[in-house]
Amino acid sequence: MHQLVYVSTARAGRGEDDLKDILSRARETNQELCITGILVHLDGYFLQVLEGEQDRVRNLYARIENEPHHSSVKVLLESDVAKRAFPDWSMGFREASRDDPFTAGFAALMRRALEGRISRPEAQVLLTIVKTFYRASDAPVDDVEREPIQSVA
Ligand SMILES: Cc1cc2nc3c(=O)[nH]c(=O)nc-3n(C[C@H](O)[C@H](O)[C@H](O)COP(=O)(O)O)c2cc1C
Repeated sequence: MHQLVYVSTARAGRGEDDLKDILSRARETNQELCITGILVHLDGYFLQVLEGEQDRVRNLYARIENEPHHSSVKVLLESDVAKRAFPDWSMGFREASRDDPFTAGFAALMRRALEGRISRPEAQVLLTIVKTFYRASDAPVDDVEREPIQSVA
């Protein structure tokens, strides 16, 4: 099982509808490819975890990397893992905020990651925080219609 984590900067002017569209299409494709993961959005930045068979993860990342909806796409962590961290999510979604105590730690480390100043241990802490979003969610995140994406600017 392969896992890749990247961060990127959303292109200005892209809003809620684009994100909804990306997520619903991503979920369809990922289901076919047996890829799971989570997309986290914070103030116009993304962090995404992709997990699955190595070639599939790498091929999908190559497509995502060239996507015009975002830029400065940077791999944060890539490794083989024993098992999936998001087994039931073809692509989960979480809106993070500096003002939400639950995601404030994520936001602080995310800033360092975007600036390219994050160490490997810190990147691993960041991933550990993101993994807690999986268990903490009470929403059926794979259901795009019921997700909390209304708050996306
Ligand atoms: C932040 C972000 C995350 C994305 N995540 C996925 C994903 O998990 N799975 C997916 O198939 N496409 C995802 N996409 C869309 C892909 O970049 C791409 O548009 C889609 O796979 C279609 O690629 P194609 O036009 O080469 O077939 C994402 C796009 C963005 C901007």
